[in-house]
Amino acid sequence: MANAFGQAGHTVEVIPLKKASLHNVTSADLFGIATPCYVSQAPTPVKKFLSSLPLLNGQRSFVIATSGGCPGRVLYDMTYELRNRGAFLVGGFLARGEVRYPAKCIDGRFPGRPNAEDLAEAAQFATAVAEHISASYPNTLTGSRKDALKAGLGFYDIVGMTISDGMMRLLMPEPKLDLSRCNQCQRCAVECPVDNITLQPYPVLANRCIRCYHCYMICPQKAFKMNFGLANLIVKSIYNVTFVRWFGDIKPGDEIYRPNANTTTY
Ligand SMILES: Cc1cc2nc3c(=O)[nH]c(=O)nc-3n(C[C@H](O)[C@H](O)[C@H](O)COP(=O)(O)O)c2cc1C
Repeated sequence: MANAFGQAGHTVEVIPLKKASLHNVTSADLFGIATPCYVSQAPTPVKKFLSSLPLLNGQRSFVIATSGGCPGRVLYDMTYELRNRGAFLVGGFLARGEVRYPAKCIDGRFPGRPNAEDLAEAAQFATAVAEHISASYPNTLTGSRKDALKAGLGFYDIVGMTISDGMMRLLMPEPKLDLSRCNQCQRCAVECPVDNITLQPYPVLANRCIRCYHCYMICPQKAFKMNFGLANLIVKSIYNVTFVRWFGDIKPGDEIYRPNANTTTY
């Protein structure tokens, strides 16, 4: 998308959320925010960042997400916060993202996504937004995802509306550190999206964990472990392939799992 905006003659800055400041938002002619989908909603740090913005007085904005098939409220959560701050939402875009998750029942979904086709669609969306803005059209973009403009009431919209971080803490196991493996590299503390880990001198988790398991997935020493047990069954029942097929955002021909792995091609 950044390349496509650049090709349309715009200067683009891509800033990780943890480094973004209010000035980055308010000084731009157009502001976009992107997130991976988390439990059919936008993750707490993203919602918090948007709700902490000052009044944006018609600031033009767009929302983007990647999702593992059940996007639910992810786009609209960001739209809602932006509109609350008085921003003008031009439109939204969603691409499939490969799911990396410690519970085997959902790991590896949508292999290789976003693929070349998804990226071409993303570039097309950016080009359309750039043209829309240059022409100063007052309405939303016709090519926008509808669920970015209006909240839905489907199964995964309801999941996204009702599951809180506190419920995730109750339902899902907390990552536990194996001290004998940890080499105190700090990567988990630096990358934790909710700044829940401090080194004392080994990583210690406070009580803000949202169970995204990023620490587990990025640890070079494989020093975190979880016992999924019953929680895995809950994930399985909510996010199993049948539910994605029934209530998710699956297009005909979309491959949910790699053939011969946990094979399901829709
Ligand atoms: C903790 C966790 C929860 C997730 N919940 C959902 C979900 O509810 N719905 C969904 O469509 N994808 C879900 N995903 C999949 C991610 O959205 C997907 O892996 C991500 O968009 C990939 O983005 P990336 O390519 O930028 O890593 C979840 C992933 C993780 C790790």
